[in-house]
Amino acid sequence: MKNRVSEVPSFCLTVFLLPLLLYGLEISDPGQVVYKETRISAVVEHEVTLPCGTTLPDVYIWSFTQPGTDKIQAVVYNFGKGPKLQHLAQDLGDLDVVQNSSSLSTKNLLVAAEGLYTCQALYDSVEGAKLYYYYVRLRVLVPVTKPYVLWSNSSAVEGLPYWMRCGLKNGTEPITYKWEQESRSGLVTTLAETNQSLINIIINRNNTGWYRCLAKNEVNQERSDRSDWLDVLYGPDLPQVDVTAYSVTERGSSALEKGNVSFRCQASSNPASQYSWLYNNIEFYTGPQLNITNILRGQAGYYTCLAQNTLINTQSKRTITLTVYYPPDGTPSCTIFPANNYTDLALFCSWGGGYPAATLKWTPNVNGAISQGLSNFTQIQAGSDTINNTIFTCYGSHAALNTGQNCSTRTCEYMGKKSTEFIHKYGKNSVSTLEIGIRGLYY
Ligand SMILES: *[C@@H]1O[C@H](CO)[C@@H](O)[C@H](O)[C@H]1NC(C)=O
Ligand SMILES: *[C@@H]1O[C@H](CO)[C@@H](O)[C@H](O)[C@H]1NC(C)=O
Ligand SMILES: *[C@@H]1O[C@H](CO)[C@@H](O)[C@H](O)[C@H]1NC(C)=O
Ligand SMILES: *[C@@H]1O[C@H](CO)[C@@H](O)[C@H](O)[C@H]1NC(C)=O
Ligand SMILES: *[C@@H]1O[C@H](CO)[C@@H](O)[C@H](O)[C@H]1NC(C)=O
Ligand SMILES: *[C@@H]1O[C@H](CO)[C@@H](O)[C@H](O)[C@H]1NC(C)=O
Ligand SMILES: *[C@@H]1O[C@H](CO)[C@@H](O)[C@H](O)[C@H]1NC(C)=O
Ligand SMILES: *[C@@H]1O[C@H](CO)[C@@H](O)[C@H](O)[C@H]1NC(C)=O
Ligand SMILES: *[C@@H]1O[C@H](CO)[C@@H](O)[C@H](O)[C@H]1NC(C)=O
Ligand SMILES: *[C@@H]1O[C@H](CO)[C@@H](O)[C@H](O)[C@H]1NC(C)=O
Ligand SMILES: *[C@@H]1O[C@H](CO)[C@@H](O)[C@H](O)[C@H]1NC(C)=O
Repeated sequence: MKNRVSEVPSFCLTVFLLPLLLYGLEISDPGQVVYKETRISAVVEHEVTLPCGTTLPDVYIWSFTQPGTDKIQAVVYNFGKGPKLQHLAQDLGDLDVVQNSSSLSTKNLLVAAEGLYTCQALYDSVEGAKLYYYYVRLRVLVPVTKPYVLWSNSSAVEGLPYWMRCGLKNGTEPITYKWEQESRSGLVTTLAETNQSLINIIINRNNTGWYRCLAKNEVNQERSDRSDWLDVLYGPDLPQVDVTAYSVTERGSSALEKGNVSFRCQASSNPASQYSWLYNNIEFYTGPQLNITNILRGQAGYYTCLAQNTLINTQSKRTITLTVYYPPDGTPSCTIFPANNYTDLALFCSWGGGYPAATLKWTPNVNGAISQGLSNFTQIQAGSDTINNTIFTCYGSHAALNTGQNCSTRTCEYMGKKSTEFIHKYGKNSVSTLEIGIRGLYY
Protein backbone atom coordinates (compact mmCIF):
# COMPACT_ATOMS: atom_id res chain seq x y z
CA MET A 1 0.00 0.00 0.00
CA LYS A 2 1.08 3.51 -0.69
CA ASN A 3 1.61 5.96 2.11
CA ARG A 4 -0.32 9.03 1.19
CA VAL A 5 1.08 11.87 3.20
CA SER A 6 -1.42 14.64 3.13
CA GLU A 7 -0.78 18.31 3.63
CA VAL A 8 -0.67 19.16 7.34
CA PRO A 9 -3.99 20.82 8.01
CA SER A 10 -4.08 23.91 10.11
CA PHE A 11 -6.09 23.30 13.17
CA CYS A 12 -7.12 25.07 16.26
CA LEU A 13 -4.90 25.08 19.27
CA THR A 14 -7.42 25.29 21.97
CA VAL A 15 -5.16 24.64 24.89
CA PHE A 16 -2.12 26.85 24.49
CA LEU A 17 -3.04 29.45 21.98
CA LEU A 18 -5.29 32.22 21.05
CA PRO A 19 -6.87 31.39 17.69
CA LEU A 20 -5.18 34.36 16.08
CA LEU A 21 -1.71 33.40 14.91
CA LEU A 22 0.47 36.10 13.48
CA TYR A 23 2.92 33.98 11.55
CA GLY A 24 6.43 35.35 11.33
CA LEU A 25 5.49 38.63 12.88
CA GLU A 26 7.81 39.80 15.64
CA ILE A 27 5.89 41.58 18.33
CA SER A 28 8.18 44.12 19.94
CA ASP A 29 5.83 44.96 22.76
CA PRO A 30 7.44 43.38 25.86
CA GLY A 31 5.07 41.15 27.69
CA GLN A 32 3.53 39.86 24.44
CA VAL A 33 4.19 36.30 23.40
CA VAL A 34 6.15 36.01 20.12
CA TYR A 35 4.92 33.45 17.54
CA LYS A 36 7.15 32.06 14.82
CA GLU A 37 6.34 29.41 12.30
CA THR A 38 8.56 27.33 10.03
CA ARG A 39 7.90 24.44 7.68
CA ILE A 40 10.35 21.64 7.35
CA SER A 41 10.27 18.72 4.94
CA ALA A 42 12.53 15.80 5.61
CA VAL A 43 13.01 12.37 4.17
CA VAL A 44 11.98 9.34 6.13
CA GLU A 45 14.81 7.41 7.81
CA HIS A 46 17.01 10.46 7.47
CA GLU A 47 18.21 13.01 9.94
CA VAL A 48 16.21 16.07 10.85
CA THR A 49 16.55 18.91 13.35
CA LEU A 50 13.62 20.97 14.55
CA PRO A 51 14.91 24.33 15.76
CA CYS A 52 13.59 26.23 18.78
CA GLY A 53 15.20 29.67 18.57
CA THR A 54 18.88 30.34 18.24
CA THR A 55 19.87 30.57 21.84
CA LEU A 56 19.19 28.18 24.63
CA PRO A 57 16.05 29.24 26.50
CA ASP A 58 15.88 29.05 30.24
CA VAL A 59 12.76 26.98 30.07
CA TYR A 60 11.17 25.18 27.12
CA ILE A 61 8.48 22.67 26.33
CA TRP A 62 8.26 20.81 23.05
CA SER A 63 4.89 19.39 22.20
CA PHE A 64 3.45 17.50 19.25
CA THR A 65 0.10 17.48 17.51
CA GLN A 66 -0.69 14.71 15.06
CA PRO A 67 -2.22 15.86 11.75
CA GLY A 68 -5.99 15.69 11.80
CA THR A 69 -6.22 15.87 15.56
CA ASP A 70 -6.17 18.72 18.01
CA LYS A 71 -4.62 16.82 20.88
CA ILE A 72 -1.37 18.29 22.11
CA GLN A 73 1.16 15.96 23.70
CA ALA A 74 4.43 16.83 25.33
CA VAL A 75 7.65 15.51 23.82
CA VAL A 76 10.24 17.02 26.09
CA TYR A 77 10.56 19.81 28.60
CA ASN A 78 13.42 21.46 30.36
CA PHE A 79 12.71 23.63 33.39
CA GLY A 80 16.39 24.25 33.91
CA LYS A 81 17.28 20.85 35.28
CA GLY A 82 18.03 19.21 32.00
CA PRO A 83 15.71 17.90 29.28
CA LYS A 84 13.03 15.42 30.34
CA LEU A 85 12.10 13.26 27.41
CA GLN A 86 8.59 11.82 27.31
CA HIS A 87 7.70 8.35 25.97
CA LEU A 88 6.24 10.01 22.92
CA ALA A 89 9.74 11.10 21.85
CA GLN A 90 10.64 7.49 21.29
CA ASP A 91 7.46 6.74 19.35
CA LEU A 92 8.25 9.60 17.03
CA GLY A 93 11.60 8.06 16.11
CA ASP A 94 13.99 8.62 18.99
CA LEU A 95 13.58 12.35 19.08
CA ASP A 96 16.21 13.87 21.28
CA VAL A 97 17.38 17.32 22.30
CA VAL A 98 20.55 18.55 20.63
CA GLN A 99 23.23 19.11 23.19
CA ASN A 100 23.55 22.69 24.49
CA SER A 101 20.44 23.73 22.53
CA SER A 102 16.70 23.36 22.61
CA SER A 103 16.46 21.88 19.09
CA LEU A 104 14.91 18.48 18.66
CA SER A 105 16.54 16.03 16.33
CA THR A 106 16.47 12.45 15.16
CA LYS A 107 18.79 10.37 13.03
CA ASN A 108 16.02 8.10 11.82
CA LEU A 109 12.89 10.00 10.98
CA LEU A 110 9.65 8.03 11.07
CA VAL A 111 6.53 8.65 8.99
CA ALA A 112 4.65 8.88 12.31
CA ALA A 113 6.71 11.94 13.24
CA GLU A 114 4.84 14.07 10.75
CA GLY A 115 2.81 16.82 12.38
CA LEU A 116 2.94 20.13 14.15
CA TYR A 117 5.65 20.70 16.75
CA THR A 118 5.39 23.59 19.16
CA CYS A 119 8.31 24.78 21.22
CA GLN A 120 7.32 27.17 23.98
CA ALA A 121 10.52 28.86 25.08
CA LEU A 122 10.98 31.22 28.00
CA TYR A 123 13.96 33.54 28.05
CA ASP A 124 14.77 35.36 31.26
CA SER A 125 16.52 38.70 30.84
CA VAL A 126 17.02 41.95 32.70
CA GLU A 127 13.92 43.42 31.01
CA GLY A 128 11.94 40.48 32.28
CA ALA A 129 10.87 37.09 30.99
CA LYS A 130 10.00 36.67 27.34
CA LEU A 131 7.89 33.87 25.93
CA TYR A 132 8.30 32.53 22.39
CA TYR A 133 6.14 30.03 20.57
CA TYR A 134 7.99 28.29 17.75
CA TYR A 135 5.75 26.30 15.46
CA VAL A 136 7.45 23.74 13.27
CA ARG A 137 5.32 21.94 10.70
CA LEU A 138 7.18 18.79 9.82
CA ARG A 139 6.41 16.94 6.59
CA VAL A 140 7.90 13.50 6.29
CA LEU A 141 8.68 12.65 2.68
CA VAL A 142 8.78 9.06 1.56
CA PRO A 143 10.94 8.30 -1.47
CA VAL A 144 9.26 6.41 -4.27
CA THR A 145 10.07 2.73 -4.21
CA LYS A 146 10.99 0.89 -7.37
CA PRO A 147 7.85 0.71 -9.50
CA TYR A 148 6.62 -2.25 -11.50
CA VAL A 149 4.51 -2.53 -14.65
CA LEU A 150 1.06 -4.05 -14.51
CA TRP A 151 -1.14 -4.39 -17.57
CA SER A 152 -4.30 -5.94 -18.84
CA ASN A 153 -2.63 -8.52 -21.07
CA SER A 154 0.72 -9.07 -22.73
CA SER A 155 -1.04 -9.51 -26.04
CA ALA A 156 -3.61 -7.06 -27.31
CA VAL A 157 -5.67 -6.42 -30.39
CA GLU A 158 -5.25 -3.16 -32.26
CA GLY A 159 -8.14 -0.76 -31.86
CA LEU A 160 -9.25 -2.04 -28.47
CA PRO A 161 -8.86 -0.22 -25.16
CA TYR A 162 -5.92 -1.17 -23.04
CA TRP A 163 -4.58 -0.16 -19.66
CA MET A 164 -1.20 -0.15 -17.99
CA ARG A 165 -0.40 0.71 -14.43
CA CYS A 166 2.83 1.80 -12.86
CA GLY A 167 2.57 0.15 -9.48
CA LEU A 168 4.61 1.19 -6.48
CA LYS A 169 4.56 0.53 -2.78
CA ASN A 170 5.64 3.78 -1.15
CA GLY A 171 6.14 7.35 -2.19
CA THR A 172 4.90 10.75 -1.17
CA GLU A 173 2.42 12.38 -3.53
CA PRO A 174 2.51 14.12 -5.90
CA ILE A 175 4.13 11.43 -7.98
CA THR A 176 4.61 11.83 -11.70
CA TYR A 177 4.85 8.88 -14.01
CA LYS A 178 6.69 8.53 -17.27
CA TRP A 179 6.23 5.60 -19.61
CA GLU A 180 9.09 4.53 -21.83
CA GLN A 181 8.64 2.21 -24.76
CA GLU A 182 11.50 0.26 -26.24
CA SER A 183 11.32 -1.14 -29.74
CA ARG A 184 12.92 -4.34 -31.00
CA SER A 185 15.75 -2.24 -32.39
CA GLY A 186 16.42 -0.67 -29.02
CA LEU A 187 14.88 2.70 -29.79
CA VAL A 188 13.38 4.20 -26.64
CA THR A 189 10.48 6.63 -26.90
CA THR A 190 8.22 8.21 -24.34
CA LEU A 191 4.66 6.97 -24.49
CA ALA A 192 3.19 9.21 -21.82
CA GLU A 193 3.97 11.48 -18.93
CA THR A 194 1.19 11.75 -16.42
CA ASN A 195 0.42 12.27 -12.77
CA GLN A 196 -1.67 9.12 -12.66
CA SER A 197 -0.33 5.64 -12.22
CA LEU A 198 -2.91 4.23 -14.63
CA ILE A 199 -2.98 5.00 -18.33
CA ASN A 200 -5.74 4.01 -20.70
CA ILE A 201 -5.03 3.88 -24.40
CA ILE A 202 -6.60 2.60 -27.57
CA ILE A 203 -3.89 0.24 -28.59
CA ASN A 204 -2.26 0.25 -31.99
CA ARG A 205 0.63 -1.59 -33.61
CA ASN A 206 3.01 1.20 -32.69
CA ASN A 207 2.54 0.21 -29.05
CA THR A 208 4.36 -3.07 -29.64
CA GLY A 209 7.43 -3.20 -27.44
CA TRP A 210 8.89 -3.39 -23.98
CA TYR A 211 7.84 -0.93 -21.34
CA ARG A 212 9.36 0.73 -18.36
CA CYS A 213 7.79 3.20 -16.05
CA LEU A 214 9.51 5.89 -14.06
CA ALA A 215 8.01 7.26 -10.89
CA LYS A 216 9.24 10.54 -9.53
CA ASN A 217 8.43 12.69 -6.54
CA GLU A 218 10.20 15.53 -4.83
CA VAL A 219 12.60 13.13 -3.15
CA ASN A 220 13.76 10.80 -5.87
CA GLN A 221 13.03 8.96 -9.07
CA GLU A 222 12.88 5.23 -9.62
CA ARG A 223 12.55 3.18 -12.78
CA SER A 224 10.90 -0.19 -13.12
CA ASP A 225 12.45 -3.25 -14.68
CA ARG A 226 11.65 -3.84 -18.34
CA SER A 227 8.23 -5.37 -18.83
CA ASP A 228 7.49 -8.41 -20.93
CA TRP A 229 7.12 -7.86 -24.64
CA LEU A 230 3.76 -6.36 -25.50
CA ASP A 231 2.61 -8.03 -28.67
CA VAL A 232 -0.06 -6.09 -30.54
CA LEU A 233 -2.12 -8.18 -32.92
CA TYR A 234 -3.39 -6.38 -35.98
CA GLY A 235 -4.33 -6.57 -39.63
CA PRO A 236 -4.36 -7.69 -42.23
CA ASP A 237 -4.27 -4.25 -43.80
CA LEU A 238 -5.67 -3.73 -47.27
CA PRO A 239 -3.38 -5.90 -49.45
CA GLN A 240 -0.89 -4.39 -51.80
CA VAL A 241 -0.73 -6.42 -55.01
CA ASP A 242 2.30 -6.07 -57.25
CA VAL A 243 1.55 -7.26 -60.74
CA THR A 244 4.15 -8.19 -63.30
CA ALA A 245 2.46 -8.25 -66.67
CA TYR A 246 2.46 -6.63 -70.10
CA SER A 247 0.77 -3.50 -68.82
CA VAL A 248 -0.22 -2.47 -65.32
CA THR A 249 -2.53 0.46 -64.72
CA GLU A 250 -4.83 1.73 -61.99
CA ARG A 251 -7.85 0.24 -63.68
CA GLY A 252 -6.39 -3.17 -64.36
CA SER A 253 -3.59 -5.18 -65.80
CA SER A 254 -3.08 -6.78 -69.15
CA ALA A 255 -1.14 -9.81 -70.20
CA LEU A 256 -0.26 -11.10 -73.60
CA GLU A 257 -1.57 -14.48 -74.54
CA LYS A 258 1.10 -17.17 -73.97
CA GLY A 259 2.95 -14.70 -71.78
CA ASN A 260 3.54 -14.88 -68.05
CA VAL A 261 1.82 -12.98 -65.28
CA SER A 262 2.75 -12.82 -61.66
CA PHE A 263 0.92 -11.34 -58.71
CA ARG A 264 2.59 -10.70 -55.42
CA CYS A 265 0.31 -9.91 -52.52
CA GLN A 266 1.36 -8.25 -49.29
CA ALA A 267 -0.82 -7.26 -46.36
CA SER A 268 0.69 -6.12 -43.10
CA SER A 269 -0.50 -8.26 -40.22
CA ASN A 270 0.54 -9.69 -36.87
CA PRO A 271 0.77 -12.63 -36.95
CA ALA A 272 1.71 -12.64 -40.64
CA SER A 273 -1.11 -12.92 -43.16
CA GLN A 274 -2.12 -16.19 -44.75
CA TYR A 275 -2.70 -15.58 -48.44
CA SER A 276 -5.00 -17.20 -50.90
CA TRP A 277 -6.12 -16.36 -54.42
CA LEU A 278 -9.54 -16.37 -55.95
CA TYR A 279 -10.28 -16.41 -59.65
CA ASN A 280 -13.70 -14.95 -60.37
CA ASN A 281 -14.47 -15.45 -56.67
CA ILE A 282 -13.42 -19.07 -56.53
CA GLU A 283 -10.40 -19.94 -54.43
CA PHE A 284 -7.78 -21.85 -56.36
CA TYR A 285 -4.35 -21.11 -54.94
CA THR A 286 -2.64 -20.53 -51.59
CA GLY A 287 0.45 -18.44 -51.06
CA PRO A 288 1.56 -14.84 -51.39
CA GLN A 289 2.84 -15.13 -54.94
CA LEU A 290 0.77 -16.35 -57.84
CA ASN A 291 2.61 -17.09 -61.11
CA ILE A 292 0.71 -17.93 -64.26
CA THR A 293 2.82 -19.03 -67.18
CA ASN A 294 1.63 -19.32 -70.75
CA ILE A 295 -1.62 -17.56 -70.00
CA LEU A 296 -4.59 -18.08 -72.30
CA ARG A 297 -7.39 -15.73 -73.22
CA GLY A 298 -9.84 -17.81 -71.16
CA GLN A 299 -7.87 -16.92 -68.04
CA ALA A 300 -8.80 -13.25 -68.16
CA GLY A 301 -10.99 -12.10 -65.30
CA TYR A 302 -10.90 -11.03 -61.69
CA TYR A 303 -8.01 -12.16 -59.51
CA THR A 304 -8.50 -11.54 -55.81
CA CYS A 305 -5.87 -11.74 -53.13
CA LEU A 306 -7.39 -12.70 -49.80
CA ALA A 307 -5.24 -12.04 -46.73
CA GLN A 308 -6.23 -13.54 -43.40
CA ASN A 309 -5.10 -13.18 -39.82
CA THR A 310 -6.12 -16.55 -38.52
CA LEU A 311 -5.36 -15.74 -34.90
CA ILE A 312 -7.82 -12.88 -34.57
CA ASN A 313 -9.98 -14.09 -37.43
CA THR A 314 -9.83 -11.02 -39.63
CA GLN A 315 -9.35 -10.69 -43.36
CA SER A 316 -9.03 -8.21 -46.17
CA LYS A 317 -8.79 -8.49 -49.93
CA ARG A 318 -8.00 -6.74 -53.14
CA THR A 319 -9.12 -7.61 -56.66
CA ILE A 320 -7.17 -7.06 -59.84
CA THR A 321 -8.85 -7.09 -63.25
CA LEU A 322 -6.74 -9.01 -65.72
CA THR A 323 -7.22 -8.68 -69.46
CA VAL A 324 -5.48 -11.06 -71.87
CA TYR A 325 -4.46 -9.73 -75.25
CA TYR A 326 -4.59 -12.15 -78.18
CA PRO A 327 -3.95 -11.61 -81.89
CA PRO A 328 -6.39 -12.16 -84.79
CA ASP A 329 -6.08 -15.49 -86.52
CA GLY A 330 -4.24 -15.87 -89.82
CA THR A 331 -3.09 -12.88 -91.78
CA PRO A 332 -4.72 -9.65 -92.93
CA SER A 333 -6.63 -9.75 -96.21
CA CYS A 334 -6.13 -7.09 -98.87
CA THR A 335 -8.73 -6.06 -101.45
CA ILE A 336 -9.17 -3.17 -103.87
CA PHE A 337 -12.57 -1.72 -104.71
CA PRO A 338 -13.42 1.08 -107.13
CA ALA A 339 -14.36 4.32 -105.47
CA ASN A 340 -15.70 7.71 -106.44
CA ASN A 341 -17.33 6.58 -109.68
CA TYR A 342 -14.35 4.52 -110.68
CA THR A 343 -11.89 7.38 -110.51
CA ASP A 344 -10.18 6.24 -107.29
CA LEU A 345 -9.16 3.02 -105.62
CA ALA A 346 -10.37 1.92 -102.20
CA LEU A 347 -7.65 -0.17 -100.56
CA PHE A 348 -9.40 -2.38 -98.03
CA CYS A 349 -7.50 -4.33 -95.40
CA SER A 350 -9.22 -6.54 -92.87
CA TRP A 351 -7.80 -8.53 -89.99
CA GLY A 352 -10.41 -8.95 -87.29
CA GLY A 353 -10.81 -11.21 -84.28
CA GLY A 354 -8.01 -10.13 -81.95
CA TYR A 355 -8.15 -8.27 -78.71
CA PRO A 356 -7.56 -5.41 -78.74
CA ALA A 357 -8.04 -4.71 -82.50
CA ALA A 358 -4.95 -5.15 -84.67
CA THR A 359 -3.30 -2.09 -86.13
CA LEU A 360 -3.28 -1.94 -89.93
CA LYS A 361 -1.21 0.23 -92.16
CA TRP A 362 -1.10 0.55 -95.96
CA THR A 363 2.12 1.38 -97.83
CA PRO A 364 3.02 3.14 -99.96
CA ASN A 365 0.86 5.99 -98.86
CA VAL A 366 0.88 7.93 -102.12
CA ASN A 367 -1.45 10.80 -101.43
CA GLY A 368 -0.74 11.39 -97.74
CA ALA A 369 -4.10 10.11 -96.54
CA ILE A 370 -4.55 8.63 -93.09
CA SER A 371 -2.92 5.29 -93.57
CA GLN A 372 -3.39 3.59 -90.25
CA GLY A 373 -6.46 2.04 -88.68
CA LEU A 374 -7.88 -0.85 -86.74
CA SER A 375 -9.30 -4.24 -87.78
CA ASN A 376 -11.05 -3.09 -90.98
CA PHE A 377 -9.26 -0.29 -92.65
CA THR A 378 -9.95 1.35 -95.99
CA GLN A 379 -7.60 3.82 -97.58
CA ILE A 380 -8.78 5.83 -100.61
CA GLN A 381 -6.05 6.05 -103.19
CA ALA A 382 -6.49 8.66 -105.96
CA GLY A 383 -6.48 6.93 -109.35
CA SER A 384 -4.62 9.85 -110.93
CA ASP A 385 -1.69 9.34 -108.53
CA THR A 386 -1.50 5.63 -109.08
CA ILE A 387 0.53 4.03 -111.82
CA ASN A 388 0.24 0.56 -113.36
CA ASN A 389 1.85 -2.32 -111.44
CA THR A 390 2.08 -0.52 -108.08
CA ILE A 391 2.21 -2.98 -105.20
CA PHE A 392 0.28 -1.93 -102.09
CA THR A 393 1.01 -3.79 -98.89
CA CYS A 394 -1.09 -3.83 -95.74
CA TYR A 395 0.94 -4.48 -92.59
CA GLY A 396 -0.90 -5.76 -89.57
CA SER A 397 0.58 -5.63 -86.08
CA HIS A 398 -0.67 -6.73 -82.69
CA ALA A 399 0.75 -6.51 -79.17
CA ALA A 400 0.46 -10.24 -78.71
CA LEU A 401 2.58 -11.03 -81.76
CA ASN A 402 6.31 -10.65 -82.03
CA THR A 403 6.28 -10.21 -85.80
CA GLY A 404 3.64 -8.55 -87.90
CA GLN A 405 1.62 -10.08 -90.71
CA ASN A 406 1.05 -8.61 -94.15
CA CYS A 407 -0.82 -8.95 -97.39
CA SER A 408 -0.18 -7.24 -100.73
CA THR A 409 -2.08 -6.32 -103.84
CA ARG A 410 -0.95 -4.90 -107.17
CA THR A 411 -2.72 -2.48 -109.46
CA CYS A 412 -3.07 -3.53 -113.04
CA GLU A 413 -4.29 -1.23 -115.77
CA TYR A 414 -6.32 -3.14 -118.25
CA MET A 415 -7.75 -1.69 -121.36
CA GLY A 416 -8.18 1.73 -119.92
CA LYS A 417 -9.34 0.23 -116.65
CA LYS A 418 -7.51 -0.94 -113.58
CA SER A 419 -7.54 -4.36 -112.10
CA THR A 420 -5.74 -5.73 -109.12
CA GLU A 421 -3.86 -8.80 -108.48
CA PHE A 422 -4.01 -10.24 -105.02
CA ILE A 423 -0.75 -11.61 -103.98
CA HIS A 424 -1.21 -13.88 -101.08
CA LYS A 425 1.72 -14.29 -98.86
CA TYR A 426 1.46 -18.03 -99.09
CA GLY A 427 2.52 -18.06 -102.71
CA LYS A 428 1.50 -17.60 -106.28
CA ASN A 429 -0.89 -20.53 -106.23
CA SER A 430 -3.34 -18.60 -104.15
CA VAL A 431 -3.14 -15.46 -106.26
CA SER A 432 -6.54 -14.16 -107.13
CA THR A 433 -7.12 -11.53 -109.70
CA LEU A 434 -9.86 -9.00 -109.48
CA GLU A 435 -10.98 -7.25 -112.55
CA ILE A 436 -12.21 -3.89 -111.61
CA GLY A 437 -13.46 -1.53 -114.22
CA ILE A 438 -11.82 1.70 -113.50
CA ARG A 439 -12.17 4.29 -116.19
CA GLY A 440 -8.67 4.92 -117.27
CA LEU A 441 -9.07 8.61 -117.99
CA TYR A 442 -5.51 9.35 -117.15
CA TYR A 443 -3.93 6.26 -118.63
C1 LIG B 1 28.12 22.30 25.76
O1 LIG B 1 28.43 23.27 26.69
C2 LIG B 1 29.42 22.88 27.59
C3 LIG B 1 29.60 23.97 28.61
O2 LIG B 1 29.51 25.24 28.09
C4 LIG B 1 30.71 22.62 26.83
O3 LIG B 1 31.72 22.18 27.68
C5 LIG B 1 30.43 21.56 25.77
O4 LIG B 1 31.58 21.38 24.99
C6 LIG B 1 29.28 21.96 24.94
N1 LIG B 1 28.99 20.88 24.07
C7 LIG B 1 28.77 21.07 22.75
C8 LIG B 1 28.46 19.86 21.99
O5 LIG B 1 28.78 22.18 22.24
C1 LIG C 1 -4.99 -11.86 -23.69
O1 LIG C 1 -5.25 -11.57 -25.04
C2 LIG C 1 -5.38 -12.72 -25.86
C3 LIG C 1 -5.51 -12.26 -27.27
O2 LIG C 1 -6.36 -11.19 -27.40
C4 LIG C 1 -6.58 -13.50 -25.40
O3 LIG C 1 -6.70 -14.66 -26.19
C5 LIG C 1 -6.39 -13.88 -23.97
O4 LIG C 1 -7.53 -14.51 -23.51
C6 LIG C 1 -6.13 -12.65 -23.13
N1 LIG C 1 -5.80 -13.05 -21.80
C7 LIG C 1 -6.39 -12.53 -20.76
C8 LIG C 1 -5.93 -13.05 -19.44
O5 LIG C 1 -7.27 -11.69 -20.84
C1 LIG D 1 7.05 1.49 2.73
O1 LIG D 1 6.76 2.23 3.86
C2 LIG D 1 6.51 1.46 4.99
C3 LIG D 1 6.09 2.38 6.11
O2 LIG D 1 6.97 3.45 6.16
C4 LIG D 1 7.76 0.69 5.37
O3 LIG D 1 7.50 -0.14 6.47
C5 LIG D 1 8.17 -0.15 4.22
O4 LIG D 1 9.41 -0.76 4.49
C6 LIG D 1 8.30 0.68 2.97
N1 LIG D 1 8.52 -0.19 1.84
C7 LIG D 1 9.55 -0.05 1.04
C8 LIG D 1 9.64 -1.03 -0.08
O5 LIG D 1 10.37 0.85 1.22
C1 LIG E 1 -2.94 15.77 -12.70
O1 LIG E 1 -2.77 16.71 -13.73
C2 LIG E 1 -3.96 17.33 -14.14
C3 LIG E 1 -3.65 18.25 -15.28
O2 LIG E 1 -2.37 18.12 -15.73
C4 LIG E 1 -4.55 18.09 -12.97
O3 LIG E 1 -5.77 18.67 -13.37
C5 LIG E 1 -4.80 17.14 -11.84
O4 LIG E 1 -5.27 17.83 -10.75
C6 LIG E 1 -3.55 16.40 -11.49
N1 LIG E 1 -3.86 15.38 -10.51
C7 LIG E 1 -3.11 15.13 -9.48
C8 LIG E 1 -3.54 14.03 -8.61
O5 LIG E 1 -2.09 15.78 -9.27
C1 LIG F 1 2.68 4.32 -36.32
O1 LIG F 1 3.85 5.06 -36.49
C2 LIG F 1 4.08 5.49 -37.83
C3 LIG F 1 5.42 6.14 -37.90
O2 LIG F 1 5.65 6.93 -36.79
C4 LIG F 1 2.97 6.42 -38.25
O3 LIG F 1 3.15 6.83 -39.56
C5 LIG F 1 1.66 5.70 -38.14
O4 LIG F 1 0.59 6.56 -38.44
C6 LIG F 1 1.47 5.12 -36.76
N1 LIG F 1 0.32 4.26 -36.78
C7 LIG F 1 -0.67 4.38 -35.94
C8 LIG F 1 -1.78 3.41 -36.08
O5 LIG F 1 -0.64 5.22 -35.06
C1 LIG G 1 7.35 -17.71 -68.80
O1 LIG G 1 7.79 -18.51 -67.75
C2 LIG G 1 8.39 -19.70 -68.19
C3 LIG G 1 8.67 -20.57 -66.99
O2 LIG G 1 9.14 -19.77 -65.97
C4 LIG G 1 9.65 -19.36 -68.98
O3 LIG G 1 10.23 -20.53 -69.47
C5 LIG G 1 9.27 -18.46 -70.13
O4 LIG G 1 10.44 -18.02 -70.82
C6 LIG G 1 8.52 -17.27 -69.67
N1 LIG G 1 8.02 -16.53 -70.78
C7 LIG G 1 8.17 -15.22 -70.91
C8 LIG G 1 7.57 -14.60 -72.12
O5 LIG G 1 8.76 -14.55 -70.10
C1 LIG H 1 7.03 -17.05 -59.15
O1 LIG H 1 8.03 -16.38 -59.89
C2 LIG H 1 9.00 -15.74 -59.12
C3 LIG H 1 9.89 -14.93 -60.05
O2 LIG H 1 9.75 -15.28 -61.35
C4 LIG H 1 9.77 -16.79 -58.37
O3 LIG H 1 10.78 -16.17 -57.57
C5 LIG H 1 8.81 -17.52 -57.48
O4 LIG H 1 9.48 -18.57 -56.82
C6 LIG H 1 7.68 -18.09 -58.26
N1 LIG H 1 6.70 -18.60 -57.34
C7 LIG H 1 6.02 -19.69 -57.51
C8 LIG H 1 5.10 -20.08 -56.46
O5 LIG H 1 6.19 -20.34 -58.51
C1 LIG I 1 -19.74 8.43 -113.52
O1 LIG I 1 -18.90 8.66 -114.65
C2 LIG I 1 -19.57 8.52 -115.89
C3 LIG I 1 -18.53 8.70 -116.99
O2 LIG I 1 -17.53 9.58 -116.67
C4 LIG I 1 -20.66 9.55 -115.93
O3 LIG I 1 -21.35 9.38 -117.09
C5 LIG I 1 -21.59 9.36 -114.75
O4 LIG I 1 -22.56 10.36 -114.73
C6 LIG I 1 -20.85 9.42 -113.47
N1 LIG I 1 -21.75 9.09 -112.37
C7 LIG I 1 -21.86 9.84 -111.27
C8 LIG I 1 -22.85 9.36 -110.24
O5 LIG I 1 -21.18 10.84 -111.07
C1 LIG J 1 -14.83 -5.75 -90.41
O1 LIG J 1 -15.49 -6.16 -91.60
C2 LIG J 1 -16.13 -7.40 -91.53
C3 LIG J 1 -16.64 -7.75 -92.90
O2 LIG J 1 -16.90 -6.62 -93.59
C4 LIG J 1 -17.27 -7.29 -90.53
O3 LIG J 1 -17.89 -8.52 -90.38
C5 LIG J 1 -16.67 -6.88 -89.19
O4 LIG J 1 -17.66 -6.68 -88.24
C6 LIG J 1 -15.87 -5.62 -89.33
N1 LIG J 1 -15.19 -5.38 -88.09
C7 LIG J 1 -15.09 -4.17 -87.54
C8 LIG J 1 -14.35 -4.12 -86.27
O5 LIG J 1 -15.57 -3.18 -88.07
C1 LIG K 1 5.10 -10.31 -95.20
O1 LIG K 1 4.68 -11.57 -94.67
C2 LIG K 1 5.45 -12.66 -95.14
C3 LIG K 1 4.85 -13.92 -94.58
O2 LIG K 1 4.63 -13.83 -93.24
C4 LIG K 1 6.89 -12.50 -94.70
O3 LIG K 1 7.69 -13.55 -95.21
C5 LIG K 1 7.42 -11.17 -95.22
O4 LIG K 1 8.71 -10.93 -94.70
C6 LIG K 1 6.53 -10.05 -94.79
N1 LIG K 1 7.01 -8.85 -95.41
C7 LIG K 1 7.33 -7.80 -94.70
C8 LIG K 1 7.83 -6.65 -95.48
O5 LIG K 1 7.20 -7.77 -93.49
C1 LIG L 1 -0.21 -2.88 -116.85
O1 LIG L 1 0.70 -3.88 -116.43
C2 LIG L 1 0.28 -5.21 -116.77
C3 LIG L 1 1.28 -6.16 -116.19
O2 LIG L 1 2.58 -5.76 -116.31
C4 LIG L 1 0.19 -5.29 -118.26
O3 LIG L 1 -0.26 -6.57 -118.61
C5 LIG L 1 -0.79 -4.24 -118.78
O4 LIG L 1 -0.83 -4.23 -120.18
C6 LIG L 1 -0.39 -2.86 -118.34
N1 LIG L 1 -1.39 -1.92 -118.71
C7 LIG L 1 -1.18 -0.86 -119.41
C8 LIG L 1 -2.35 0.03 -119.76
O5 LIG L 1 -0.05 -0.57 -119.76
